[in-house]
Amino acid sequence: MKSIPVILDMDTGIDDALAILYALTSDKLRVLGITTCFGNGNIVNTTRNTLAIVELSPKTVPVYQGASHPLVSAWEPTAEAFHGPNGLGGTRIFRPLQQVERLSAVDFMRRSIEDNPREIVLVATARLTNIAGLLLAHSEVISLIKRIVIMGGAAFVPGNVTPVAEANIWGDPEAAWVVFQSGAPITMVGLDVTTKVPISDSMLASLSPHVPYHDVIQEAVNFYLAAYNPGVQPGKRTAPLHDPLAVGIAEDAQLCVTRPYPVDIELRGQLTRGMTVLDGRKRTTAASNIDVAVKVDGERFLRQFAQRLQFEILS
Ligand code: RIB
Ligand code: CA
Repeated sequence: MKSIPVILDMDTGIDDALAILYALTSDKLRVLGITTCFGNGNIVNTTRNTLAIVELSPKTVPVYQGASHPLVSAWEPTAEAFHGPNGLGGTRIFRPLQQVERLSAVDFMRRSIEDNPREIVLVATARLTNIAGLLLAHSEVISLIKRIVIMGGAAFVPGNVTPVAEANIWGDPEAAWVVFQSGAPITMVGLDVTTKVPISDSMLASLSPHVPYHDVIQEAVNFYLAAYNPGVQPGKRTAPLHDPLAVGIAEDAQLCVTRPYPVDIELRGQLTRGMTVLDGRKRTTAASNIDVAVKVDGERFLRQFAQRLQFEILS
C-alpha cells in the first residue's frame, strides 16, 4: 500500500507530543518533516519539545522552526495552564541531540509540496500561522496541496478558550481566515470530535515501562489530566486527545464522518473573535469550503492509538 506523505505543523504541547508519537509509529504515514509554531509555549520551547519527542520516537524526522507570533495580532499566551511552563507540563526535558534544520518552516513546506504535487497532506495541530504564511507568500502551491487536516474550531459545540472559540483558531484568527478561505481542500477536526476521544488515568498507568518515552509521557500527561480536571481525584480524570485524532484522520479518513459546510472565521466580534462560523442553513447560497468532522469512531481510534503507543488498556 502506498504511504501518505505528510508534514506535521505543531506547537508541541502535550497532546501534540502524543500526536508526534502516533504519527511516527504509523506504517501508513510517511512524515517528511515537522514544522513548529508558537502556541502551547513560545517558539523556542515548542521547537525544543518537538526535537525531544522525535528523539524518543522510533523514527528520525527533520524539524523546521516556524512562526513565533501571530500574523497581525500580538501573541497572548493562554496555554500554560494546560501545557505547563515549558509546554510539556514542566517535565524536565533533556537537551535534544538533533538540531533544528536551517530551512524555514514555510520554505520546507513549499519545497516539499512542489516536489510532491497533489500528494502531501498537511496536518495542522497549532495556530495556522505557518500555513497562512505559506499560502500568502506562495499561492501557487494551493492547488498542489492534497489536503489540510486541521485540529481546530468548534462547529456545533462550545469553544475552549472563549465560549465560542477554540484555541488554535482563537490564537491567530487572521491566519485561520487565510487558510479557511484559500480554496485548499480542508478537513476540520474540531472540538465536536476531539472531545470524544479521551485519555484517562487508567490508560496512562498502563503505558509500557519499556518504551523510551515512558517517563516524559507519564509526567506530561499527568499534568494534562490534572489541568483538565481541577478538583477531581487522580484515577477518575480524562482529557481530550485533540491532536492525535487529527493525525488519525489524516491516516484514515474513515475514522470520522464529515459534512461539507461553508465555514468562516470571525475576526471582529468583541465576544466572538476566533469563532468558526458555520452556515448550516438549508437554503444557503454560500459555497461549502470545509469538510467538517461531525462524528468519530472513537472506540476504533482509541484502540489503534493505545496499541501503537503501547498503552495496555483503553480509556
Ligand atoms: O484546542 C486544542 C488545541 O490547542 C490543541 O492543538 C492543543 O495542543 C492546543 O494547541
Ligand atoms: Ca496543538
